[in-house]
Amino acid sequence: MPDFTADEHGFALDGRPVRLLSGALHYFRVHDGLWAHRLRMLRAMGLNCVETYAPWNRHQRHRGRPELSELGRFLDAAQDAGLYAIVRPGPYICAEWENGGLPYWLPGRVRTSDPAYLAAVDGWLAAVAGQVVDRQADRGGPVVLLQVENEYGSYGSDRRYLSHLVRRWRELGVTVPLVTSDGPEDHMLSGGTVPGALATVNFGRGAREAFGVLRRHQPRGPLMCMEFWCGWFTHWGGEAAARAADEAAAVLRDILEQGASVNIYMAHGGTSFGGWAGANRSGEDHRGPLRPTLTSYDYDAPVDELGRPTPKFWAFREILTRFTGTPPPQPPPAPPPLAEPLAVRPSHHLPLSLVMDALGGLETSTPHPPSFEDLDIDRGLVRYRFHIPGPRPALPLYAAGVRDVAVAWVDGVRMPAALDEESPLIGEVPGPAEVELWVESLGRVNYGPRLAEAKGLTGGLLHELQYIHGVRARGLRLDALESPQALDSLPWRPAPGAHTSGAYRAPFALPSGAGDALLELPGWGRGFAWVNGFCLGRYWDRGPQRALYVPGPVLREAPRENTLLLLELDRPGEDAPRLVPPTSR
Ligand code: GLA
Repeated sequence: MPDFTADEHGFALDGRPVRLLSGALHYFRVHDGLWAHRLRMLRAMGLNCVETYAPWNRHQRHRGRPELSELGRFLDAAQDAGLYAIVRPGPYICAEWENGGLPYWLPGRVRTSDPAYLAAVDGWLAAVAGQVVDRQADRGGPVVLLQVENEYGSYGSDRRYLSHLVRRWRELGVTVPLVTSDGPEDHMLSGGTVPGALATVNFGRGAREAFGVLRRHQPRGPLMCMEFWCGWFTHWGGEAAARAADEAAAVLRDILEQGASVNIYMAHGGTSFGGWAGANRSGEDHRGPLRPTLTSYDYDAPVDELGRPTPKFWAFREILTRFTGTPPPQPPPAPPPLAEPLAVRPSHHLPLSLVMDALGGLETSTPHPPSFEDLDIDRGLVRYRFHIPGPRPALPLYAAGVRDVAVAWVDGVRMPAALDEESPLIGEVPGPAEVELWVESLGRVNYGPRLAEAKGLTGGLLHELQYIHGVRARGLRLDALESPQALDSLPWRPAPGAHTSGAYRAPFALPSGAGDALLELPGWGRGFAWVNGFCLGRYWDRGPQRALYVPGPVLREAPRENTLLLLELDRPGEDAPRLVPPTSR
């Protein structure tokens, strides 16, 4: 079997020099029915390798055993497409993914050698090894590199932690070269590198300078840019990322002219389905207000969210072809689009409180509000109920430290403004009163010192300066809305006339054919959408994203029926949601 090695001259396969021309594509951001198409697009761009992260929290949603046969299936698909593979299984991955891929339930101090955390890490590493070890190049598989942690030098300096990971991977049977990746700065490289793993750097511009810094830390060996950021991600309420194709292509050329290997981040970004998108804290120090990341992870990548080639695809293809001297295959035909637009009007509605009654977790009763983590909620919402004693005059009522967004009801009347950490004032409220707060997580922070911070009503309910003690709390996990049996058993009511938050159900048929589509939600506020149990992700009228991508394989051809489910957490639109075919590029 071919042996993939890294020595002082570079990467080699059975002694023959190889340059990795890799593209990032996260299997968990692409419907598995479309993996083959997207991988062929990477080949057609001129790449010889695909890189993917593996998000621990998606594969181990509760304590218990991780389940990630999906990673193995993806690596097999990569091999079928004629690509090598780089695996980056964290434990932390960043990636604009909920909590940077770390499960919310982890014990101990994350990303350190704290024994409680390491014990959980060891279970994850063993599960990853179960998928990767037999698929390494020296056993006839596609895997050529495995990354240890992710940009660790941007976060910590616990060398014992990194050494533990290196040792464990080797003990578990990983034989391919191990790598780390870091920003091209001295403090990042000195904090993030570890003996036993090759150092690589991440950047979007300035290849020469970046490799110069890398060389100070690692004078010999293969040069690699593990993340060449050819585009960028976008936050809700922000401006969609856009980077000119020629300018990005010039940087790619620069990287290749240095003799380096490259991983284009992202070659195809895809979609953060399932409400798994993460969030950032703004400001230089990453401690400011929360900026949740869009559902679309288009990334302004060469292959766009729907799998279509962009001008960047053709510009990169030209550069790559010039370097390899071999023209790549032509791009495969696009997957079929939806035949024609369709209005999908909900026929049934269920108020949020009844959804909670039917699908929520157990209600707890405590003096101080529990967090999402206390209630075992990864993605979803929590209802908190308080009694304000009285009689007492109207005083300001605050939802202190609310993460991330909340809707308040006082004596059954909805309060006008949505609350957040920066504006927690519910209003001037007299007592006695009954208060309900519905708190929603907009995604856990995936980068910086506030990684792994708690969600929920973290500061308590305050009437002027008085804590209101005694709260009943109950959580609803998004996962609970995936099961068709659970949904069938709900006490649905006819939708016409419903103007409030809650679940909306819309059965529909596609007599003229299924295919890739966009779901538009004109006037709908904020929530989540599922088609046939597949969670398309969060929608939000803040923009800039205006429609959710519906992968063709999720839809069913007539005579089979489809179901659209919306969990609207703010206000429903007057107009019916619409499925439309994507415009061709
Ligand atoms: C860093 C991380 C990636 C991703 C990019 C930005 O490089 O390593 O996971 O978050 O930033 O898209």
